[in-house]
Amino acid sequence: MSKTLRVLAAAAMAALLTTTTAACSKTRSTDNAPADSGPALVGIAMPTRSLERWNNDGAHLEDLLKKAGYKTSLQYADNKVDQQITQLQNMINDKAKILVIASIDGTALAPVLQTAADKKIKVIAYDRLINSTPNVDYYATFDNYKVGQLQGQFIVSKLGLDQGKGPFNLEPFAGSSDDNNAKFFFAGAWDVLKQYVDSGKLVIPSGKKLPNDDAWKTVSINGWKSEGAQAEMDNRLNSFYTGGKKVDVVLSPNDSLALGIAQSLDSHGYKPGADWPILTGQDGDLANTKNILAGKQSMTVWKDTRTLGDQVAKMVDAITKGTAVETNDTKTYNNGVKVVPSYLLPPVVVTKDDVKSKLVDSGFLKASDLGL
Ligand code: BGC
Repeated sequence: MSKTLRVLAAAAMAALLTTTTAACSKTRSTDNAPADSGPALVGIAMPTRSLERWNNDGAHLEDLLKKAGYKTSLQYADNKVDQQITQLQNMINDKAKILVIASIDGTALAPVLQTAADKKIKVIAYDRLINSTPNVDYYATFDNYKVGQLQGQFIVSKLGLDQGKGPFNLEPFAGSSDDNNAKFFFAGAWDVLKQYVDSGKLVIPSGKKLPNDDAWKTVSINGWKSEGAQAEMDNRLNSFYTGGKKVDVVLSPNDSLALGIAQSLDSHGYKPGADWPILTGQDGDLANTKNILAGKQSMTVWKDTRTLGDQVAKMVDAITKGTAVETNDTKTYNNGVKVVPSYLLPPVVVTKDDVKSKLVDSGFLKASDLGL
C-alpha cells in the first residue's frame, strides 16, 4: 500500500465503518446508501474516455478514494459541456460533499457551481482551471507553463538554435481554445521560441502569425482532436510545402495532436530516421510512446497522473477532516474572479532513451505493451 493510501485509509477508517460498493455506468453511477449517512460521496467529473490519460486519471483517483473508504461517482462526459453539467447536477442531487472536476469548457460551469456552493459542497479543479466563478476552492495540476517551456527548450537544443543554427521550418499548434491549460502550454513554449522566430532562425511557412503568446487561438485545435490536428497538418503541408520544401519541426502541445500530425507526416511521405521532423508531445500515452520508439515523435512531456490523483485524494481528505489543504502556488492561477490556491506537480521530459527508465520502470506503461 502506498504512503498516500495508508494515510488516507487510516483517516477514513477512523471516521467510517461502512465500506462501499460503487457501481459504474456511463452516465450515472453512485452508490445506493444515502449520502448524508456513512462515508462522504465524492463526485469525479472527467471530460472524455476518448483519451487514454483521462481513463487512467479517473480510475486511479476512484480506486484511491474507494480504498480509503469514500463513496465515489465517476462520470465521463464525452467532451460535451451540457453532459458534464448534467452529471455535476446529479452529483449535487446525490448529496456529494466534494466535487473533483476536470472541466471541458473552463468557463461554462459557473451556474452549476453556484448550486454546489449553496449546498456547501467543496470544489477541486482537477488538471484544468475552472474560470469565471468564485466557487472553486482548490486547483491541482502539473505546472502547465513549464510543460510548454520544456517543449520549447527541447526544440532549441535539438536544432542547435542556441548555437546559431538555422533557419528551420516550424509549424506551431496549440490545444483546445476552451481549455485554460492550452494558453499556458503555448505561452511556455512561445516564450522560449519567439526570439528565434523574430531573428528568422525559425520560419513559419504556413504564415501563421503569432506575434505574441496571446495569439495561440489562431493555431488551436478544438477538442484536442487527433483528426483535427491531422486535417490541419494536411492543409499546411499541401498548401505551403510544395516544390520540395520540408518541415523541420512541429510544436505539438500534447500527444493526441501529435498522433494526428504524425499520421499526416506519414501520408505525406516523411520517413523516420531520414526527414521526419522534430515533433513534441505531452502525456506519455501508449500510442505516442510507441511512436517515440519508432522515431515518429521526438519527445513527450510526461505527467505522472498517478501523483496528481494522490495529491487530489490528500486534498479530499484534508477537506473532509477540516485540516489545512496543502497548496504550493497562490499566485499563478487567477480564474478571472479570484486566485485559486493550487498544487503544482513537476512535468518530466521523456525521449526514446529514457522510455524504459522513466515510463516502464515506474510502472506507468508496461514493457510488454511497448514490445520492449
Ligand atoms: C491536459 C493534457 C491533455 C489535454 C487533452 C489538457 O487539459 O492537461 O494533459 O493532453 O488536456 O485532453
